[in-house]
Amino acid sequence: MSQVPDLECRAISKSFDEFKAVKDVSFSVPQGTFFSILGPSGCGKTTLLRMIAGFQKPTGGDLLIKGRSVLEVPPNKRPVSMVFQHLALFPMMNIGANVGFGLRQRGVNRADTKRQVERVLERVGLAGVADRPVNSLSGGQKQRVAIARCMVLEPDVLLLDEPLGALDLKLREHMKVELKQLQSEFNTTFVYITHDQSEALVMSDQIAVMNHGVFEQVGIAKELYYEPETAFVAGFVGEANRFSARIDSIDGGILGMVTPEGRTLRGIGAGQGLATGTTVDVFVRPEAVRLSRRHADLSAMGNSGQGQVRNILFNGANSQLILRDQTTGADMNVALPQTGEFRDLAQGDTVHFGWEPQQTRVYPGAGGRHGN
Ligand SMILES: Nc1ncnc2c1ncn2[C@@H]1O[C@H](COP(=O)(O)OP(=O)(O)OP(=O)(O)O)[C@@H](O)[C@H]1O
Ligand SMILES: [Mg+2]
Repeated sequence: MSQVPDLECRAISKSFDEFKAVKDVSFSVPQGTFFSILGPSGCGKTTLLRMIAGFQKPTGGDLLIKGRSVLEVPPNKRPVSMVFQHLALFPMMNIGANVGFGLRQRGVNRADTKRQVERVLERVGLAGVADRPVNSLSGGQKQRVAIARCMVLEPDVLLLDEPLGALDLKLREHMKVELKQLQSEFNTTFVYITHDQSEALVMSDQIAVMNHGVFEQVGIAKELYYEPETAFVAGFVGEANRFSARIDSIDGGILGMVTPEGRTLRGIGAGQGLATGTTVDVFVRPEAVRLSRRHADLSAMGNSGQGQVRNILFNGANSQLILRDQTTGADMNVALPQTGEFRDLAQGDTVHFGWEPQQTRVYPGAGGRHGN
């Protein structure tokens, strides 16, 4: 594998008048990586991708592809290709003409184009469809045509802007797996943007979580899930129960906290500025919460309480319980244990719950220090 990354962004920025849509974003993507940019609507994902493609000019920073700055290179000369949300296939042309369009633009002759189009269609599992009209294909097949149309140009980097957005849920689930497979078969660097965390978690080698124009964290799926560095990442990636609380003690790295309703919590800090008196956001994953019929079992866990079963969302191994915490009055999301003891649990039952401080992540809260 080459040491020079396929793509490198150095403090790339984009302002629209006073508004900064992308702020000093730096990252690099090694060859052959499936890199996802995950973030909510309006956080700057498309703007960043359009700068990489060359459709938009950065207001600051540098962009390198295979170690060479491409800031002065026009979009059609950059070694990148882009798949759009609505695919932008030409409905009046047959599939072969769609896929071969870029090659013909580059001046490749008809016979060579035909050969390359047939080869790439075969690689995406659509051999022999070149003469058919685009509209004779299913949504998933069109998706593959859109990818073939880009891949035939042998880009160093393929940019994908929410390409599964227009598909129904079932097809999206299927295409997630298929896209990842295509990416590893082509061994091409993919930069994939999405606001759907499950897409990013399933497909990516690396994920950048973007919020308000900045990358909050870049890492592999497991790191983002188990070691989120910011409250935003903890809340955006995966399910989490969230408490707002205030630190009232710090003991050997364990923070003691209390919520306004009087629930005591113990957890470990992430980030700076965690002193006694600080308002914090506290997160615990549904699967970290243990349940018991008896109070004594869990009272030593560092975080414990009692709750009433509000709802049981049965989904086989992924079943969930909605518990009303008796102290806070808020609902908690708990993974339903797969043991017989809880099989006959019913709405209205009271159970004890608890979880470890090590599985409780604490971040400085939006409110900052308390006034008193
Ligand atoms: N040409 C423009 N002029 C002014 N503001 C713009 C322009 N393009 C984007 N913006 C603003 O920049 C911000 C980021 O937009 P962008 O399209 O990059 O978001 P996004 O993360 O792709 O969102 P979505 O998930 O909804 O597609 C938004 O607030 C948007 O209104
Ligand atoms: Mg967008």
